[in-house]
Amino acid sequence: MKDNRNNPSDADGVRIDIQAGETLPQATARHGLSIRKDCGDKGVCGQCRIRVDDARDATPLTDAEQQHLDSGEIERGFRLACQVRLSSPARLWIPSAALDTADVHGKESFACQLEADPMVARLFLERSAVPLVMEGKTLSLTGWLAERVREETGVHLRLRHHRILSALSAPEAASQAMTLVNHAQQGVTAIWPGRRPASYGLAFDIGTTTLAAYLCDLVTGEVRASASAVNPQRTVGEDVISRIAHCSQETEGLDQLRGLVVEGMNGLIRNCLASAGLKADAVDEVVVVGNPTMEQILAGFHPHAIGVAPYLPLTSHIPDLTAEELGLDLYPATAVYFFPVVSGFIGGDTLGAVLADGLFHGEKTALLVDIGTNGEIVMGNKDALWATSCATGPALEGAQLSCGMRAAAGAIDRVFREPGGTIGYHVLGKNGTRPKGICGSGIVDALATLRQAGGLDPSGRLNPDFPGVETDDNGVGHKFVLVRASENASGGEIAVTLKDIRQFQLAKAALAVGIAFLMDRVGVDGVSRTVLTGAFGARFNWRSAVVTGMLPAVVVRNGVAPKLNLAGVGAVMGLVNRCHRDRALEIQDQIRFVEMAGDPSFIERFTAATAFPDLNTLTDLLDA
Ligand code: FES
Repeated sequence: MKDNRNNPSDADGVRIDIQAGETLPQATARHGLSIRKDCGDKGVCGQCRIRVDDARDATPLTDAEQQHLDSGEIERGFRLACQVRLSSPARLWIPSAALDTADVHGKESFACQLEADPMVARLFLERSAVPLVMEGKTLSLTGWLAERVREETGVHLRLRHHRILSALSAPEAASQAMTLVNHAQQGVTAIWPGRRPASYGLAFDIGTTTLAAYLCDLVTGEVRASASAVNPQRTVGEDVISRIAHCSQETEGLDQLRGLVVEGMNGLIRNCLASAGLKADAVDEVVVVGNPTMEQILAGFHPHAIGVAPYLPLTSHIPDLTAEELGLDLYPATAVYFFPVVSGFIGGDTLGAVLADGLFHGEKTALLVDIGTNGEIVMGNKDALWATSCATGPALEGAQLSCGMRAAAGAIDRVFREPGGTIGYHVLGKNGTRPKGICGSGIVDALATLRQAGGLDPSGRLNPDFPGVETDDNGVGHKFVLVRASENASGGEIAVTLKDIRQFQLAKAALAVGIAFLMDRVGVDGVSRTVLTGAFGARFNWRSAVVTGMLPAVVVRNGVAPKLNLAGVGAVMGLVNRCHRDRALEIQDQIRFVEMAGDPSFIERFTAATAFPDLNTLTDLLDA
């Protein structure tokens, strides 16, 4: 699919040079830039267009480039960054739409204060000399220390970490006034001189697209600071399948992805600590939620079995690791707890979301939908919980659409009909930010608006007589031009093509069929409430989702609640109060996974769900 970003103004991009012996990624890194890799360098998305000026030794155009670039672009030197190789110095122009931005929307902070009963506690010991005469069964310095703690606090101390024993072995160390960080299961994980009462923990939500960290006071139960960033692993592809493929295809793939996510987490640790005015020695525990692939990669386990049928994670519960084992910039023995997982695609993030929402103790059946590059759906009540997952693909997060981008500054995130009937849009970012592309919530709105305005028929074909619908000279059939080239920051128009619509139809059908399967399994024809979460899930207009058939009308009639960061809230709950970890384990035990692909009716139902619904069946919702 070619697009027509034909006349970009050089002001809407960045010029860089490539020096002799330097690769393109090295040159962009030297300039502190990164080029989009929505498809993981596979030549599929066409989003990494750059212009190569003054190149003497560029490799010939690949098939992927022939497919994505039109003759005008090729003439002016446009190439796909993931395809071209340069063996001599050159000058490049990178349009702003091709630049990867670290800007993140979707995992903002939240304020909460929970009852604190953490897994770790700080214990204080005053200075005390070792008695000159001791007697008993087994005598040791640590035995003497443990006995003092037992007498003073009632806590049975376990001193088994090599680092802790090593610290205590120094002359006089066991006699000093000290603060012990005691983990209920791991034993003492840190020793500090003197009295240090402040005790904090970090909860991480490791998303395929976004990383978020929440710094919590383990004494008051308050979230003190938070930070988020794009997951640096996105440089090898936007979805978990690309990440798994990278681990399998590259010799150092797993280590590389592990290193990238750890680097991202360390950045968030620094940000959180700086904004709370704390040092790393204040952090006593870490809790991680993530989908099974993200958790496994972070723990250093190859995720290959998640990528092939029957899509199995290595284990349903990664054992506790330490900050040192993971490479986190914290005290080395600091314990890191991973939320358990249910299946290859229902992970600790979903359990965290169910925990935070309270779906598991409701009397009536409710639905929780977490939508990103994968959709996780949980339905149930206090008696039973059912879950399934569906490959919604990157289209709903704006990737792999002809003009798609993540929900970052410059993304069209809302599309609507103006009072005069024309189609308007809203752009993420400061006032005056010019549009660069369209993100997931924007495409849902765009198609719903077109459908309601008569620009799109139930099969997904654009009406050629609708204003803005034009023949797609570079693609197939028609396209709807949302932004003319003159209004776009990157100089090209922003359009919704037939191929984009087909991609969206596949994604929305997967989700709608998943919900329908769960309703069958639970034996209901509606739900008492629906919760939408996830960086994308909580941000789209649910009415638009109903108009497009992404959400069946029967699940929204009793109320829809978008809830940002439910997985992150669940992680915070598990960090601050240990009873929530037990509850997450109970939820894990209670959830039954439903596999749709093996059902004989799946193909038929999926095909039917690709159509856009009859608007006459939705009048009560649309008029509300
Ligand atoms: S085409 Fe180059 S990253 Fe997708």
